[in-house]
Amino acid sequence: MSEQVTTTTARPLPGAPVAEAVYAEVTDRVAALRAAGTVPALATVLVGDDPASAGYIRMKQQRAADLGFASPHLHLPADASTADLAAAIDSLNADPAVHAILVQHPIPAHLDYARALLRIDPAKDVDGLHPTSLGRLAAGLPGPVPCTPAGIEALLAFHGVPVAGRDVVVLGRGTTLGRPLAMLLAQKRATADAAVTVVHSGVPDWARHTRRADIVIAAVGVPGILRPEHIRPGAVVVGGGVRYEGRRLLPDVDEACEAVAGAITPRVGGVGPTTVAMLFRNAVELAEQATHP
Ligand SMILES: NC(=O)c1ccc[n+]([C@@H]2O[C@H](COP(=O)([O-])OP(=O)(O)OC[C@H]3O[C@@H](n4cnc5c(N)ncnc54)[C@H](OP(=O)(O)O)[C@@H]3O)[C@@H](O)[C@H]2O)c1
Repeated sequence: MSEQVTTTTARPLPGAPVAEAVYAEVTDRVAALRAAGTVPALATVLVGDDPASAGYIRMKQQRAADLGFASPHLHLPADASTADLAAAIDSLNADPAVHAILVQHPIPAHLDYARALLRIDPAKDVDGLHPTSLGRLAAGLPGPVPCTPAGIEALLAFHGVPVAGRDVVVLGRGTTLGRPLAMLLAQKRATADAAVTVVHSGVPDWARHTRRADIVIAAVGVPGILRPEHIRPGAVVVGGGVRYEGRRLLPDVDEACEAVAGAITPRVGGVGPTTVAMLFRNAVELAEQATHP
C-alpha cells in the first residue's frame, strides 16, 4: 500500500476584497469633497515609453476616473533631462488644482528616482516616500503612509489576522517596504502593536528569526527566497517582495510555503491590489488636507 501524503493548504489572504473596501470608503470621501466644491486630483508623470509602466499609468487613470478623481498626466520623452523632470514636478507642485503627485517607477536609468521624489511637495506626496512623510511616520504623526506597508496592515486586519502582541518578522529593510512596514506594525494601534523584528542581508542566519515568527512578511525582491523550512507550520505568510522579468512576476515566497503556512497571500492578487488602493486613500487624504488644513 502506498504511503499517503497529507498536505495542508493555507487559508488564502486575497487583496481584492481589501481593496474594494478601501475603494468604497474613498468613493464616499471623494463625493464629500466634490459636494463641497473640490475635485480631488491625482497627477501622474511618466518618463519614457516602457510598456509596463504605461500600462500601470493607464490602470491608475482608469481607477482614478472610476473613483471620481481628476488625473492630469504629464508624459516626458525617454531622453528627458533631470531639469525637464524637475520642471514637470515643479509645475504640478505649483498647481493648486493638483493634490497628489505620482512619478511612475521605474524612470530611465540616467535619471535619479530618489531625487525626483525629493522634488515633490511633501503636501502632495501620494507615495508617502518623501523623507518628510517617512519622518512623520517615525514620529507617529499623521501623514501619507507608504502604500505597500499600509496595504499589508489593512490586509491583515481585513482578514482577521491578529497582529497585536504577536511576533512579526519582516525580511528586508528597504525604504519602500520593509523599513516603513516595521515602523507601522510597531505603532500603538489595535491593528498593529506587534513585536517586530527586521532581518536582512546583514543577518545571514535570518531563518532563525523567521522560524519562530507568528507572521512572516517577505520584503526582499529575491524570487523564492522564503522557503517552507524558513517558517513555522501554521504561521501567517505575506509576500510583499517581487521581481519582474518583463511582465512575469516572481514572488519572494516559494510556492511550497502554501503547504506549511496557516494563511498566506496568493502569488498574484495579494499585496498588489492593496498597494494601489492605498495610493487612492493617500490621494483623497491629501485633497482633504489641502481643502481643510
Ligand atoms: N507588491 C507591491 O505592490 C510592491 C510595492 C513596493 C515594493 N515591492 C517590492 O518589495 C521589495 C522590496 O522593496 P524595497 O524597495 O524595500 O527593496 P530594497 O530597498 O531593494 O530592499 C530589499 C531588502 O532585502 C534585503 N535582502 C536582499 N537580499 C537578501 C538576502 N539574500 N537575504 C536577506 N535579505 C536580503 C536587503 O538587505 P540589505 O538592506 O542588507 O541590502 C534589503 O533590506 C521589492 O521586491 C519590490 O519590488 C512590492
